[in-house]
Amino acid sequence: MNPSNPPQAAEYGGDEISAIVLDPGYSTTRAGFAGEDAPKSLIPSYYGKYNADGKEKLIYGDDIFVTPRPGLSIHNPIGRDGIVEDWDMAEKVWEHSFTSRLTGAKSSNPFQNGLNDIPSEELPTEMDVESEEKALADSPLLMTEPGWNPVKAREKTAEIAMEKWGTPAFYMARSGVLAAFASGKASALVVDIGASNISITPVHDGMILKRGVQHSPLGGDYISSQIRALFKKNSPQPITITPHYLISSKTAVEAGQPPQAKYRSFPADKAPDASYRSLLEERTLSEFKECVVQVWPGPNKLAATGSNGMANEEVARTSPGRPFEFPDGYNQLFGVDRFRIVESLFDAKAAIPDPDSPFPAPTPAQTLPELIKASLGGVDVDLRPHLLANVVVTGASSLLYGFTDRLNHELMSIYPGPRVRISAAGNTAERRFGSWIGGSILASLGTFHQMWISKKEYDEHGANIVEKRCK
Ligand SMILES: Nc1ncnc2c1ncn2[C@@H]1O[C@H](COP(=O)(O)OP(=O)(O)OP(=O)(O)O)[C@@H](O)[C@H]1O
Ligand SMILES: [Mg+2]
Repeated sequence: MNPSNPPQAAEYGGDEISAIVLDPGYSTTRAGFAGEDAPKSLIPSYYGKYNADGKEKLIYGDDIFVTPRPGLSIHNPIGRDGIVEDWDMAEKVWEHSFTSRLTGAKSSNPFQNGLNDIPSEELPTEMDVESEEKALADSPLLMTEPGWNPVKAREKTAEIAMEKWGTPAFYMARSGVLAAFASGKASALVVDIGASNISITPVHDGMILKRGVQHSPLGGDYISSQIRALFKKNSPQPITITPHYLISSKTAVEAGQPPQAKYRSFPADKAPDASYRSLLEERTLSEFKECVVQVWPGPNKLAATGSNGMANEEVARTSPGRPFEFPDGYNQLFGVDRFRIVESLFDAKAAIPDPDSPFPAPTPAQTLPELIKASLGGVDVDLRPHLLANVVVTGASSLLYGFTDRLNHELMSIYPGPRVRISAAGNTAERRFGSWIGGSILASLGTFHQMWISKKEYDEHGANIVEKRCK
């Protein structure tokens, strides 16, 4: 691989054009040039909507966080199962991810559309308006997708890339396969802990083993809901997250003391929608995951008793607490409770109950150990030892402190015979961008050249060529 000289450059116009790699997740959308080691563009997958001057306005990217506009509501075009629900908006959010940082706005972008100012009859007739207007007319595009993406969704994605964006060449790859590539493996059992889902993808010789793909909703958003459940039951007092935009000033307080803050309030007709507040609360929850939450490292469940006869909970209790300060200044040490938050990813019974949570109580089949068993159960017996020796951990929620230790213990207790080996990038960016990085590597391989679906092939065969080419 020579990243500075992408193989497709000669074919697509002779200029030095790199393919674009687009990796849309539920929480963030990553985009960048193939051959580079990190995505240049990272935007939230959420978008904002509000009304002004009698018109509906849309906001994309980090701008959604900035101003609590009256009536501003926050939406996600992707559903909780990780599959696109709103195609028009998915197209717009994804388009924003590459036009904002990579390709620059094309004339099709209504926000910065210089051409719109010219009456159409004054447009030069000889100009190829059609190709000028397409956002990706110059760039081959590799997109990632979940292992359980249905055929219809794959075809719809190809249609957007080819017909709306005008990409000259297109390919779709399963994010699990790409995360394996990013770890330098063509065969692996990929464990992805994302925002909407956790998933297990067995990969053999660069191909997804479809019957072994498993996923469940116990991802980062579920973990956030467990933190909220814990906050409600917190002592010495329940914790409310008040985002910064609702605080005008605060004073430092001692740990565990009520916050001393002046709050901002909005009259009903000036207030943003509740979904805006949730989005900002989610930022605090994410920070809390990074700084406080800890996975009981094992061996055995948190609820079990260790070989020395001491309950694991008691052992966890002896480890020093971790402090956290909320936006309103409230702060406290979090003790053994911080281990309870993610225990239900491994032990369904350990879930912290919360009748108000949008997540139903998890079932045993949704936990990681059971998903892994089901996944390996779906692949050829002969392949299992090799997959267990190449477990790749990816996704930002896998950065939880102690996660890989626990996964290792769980795997060794289910599969005491074969050698279990976990590869988890120590570098945070590599863990967060595993599937993007794999796409960056794949699209710049010389041998990948023949895999692209060209515009001509798409026109000849239609969108279902994706199903035939992208295995
Ligand atoms: N250091 C961290 N520790 C634990 N969780 C984290 C950390 N950093 C981010 N997260 C959580 O990881 C989630 C985002 O993970 P990731 O970027 O892999 O998801 P995604 O690809 O957007 O979503 P999905 O894979 O479900 O489509 C969020 O829920 C976020 O709160
Ligand atoms: Mg993901």
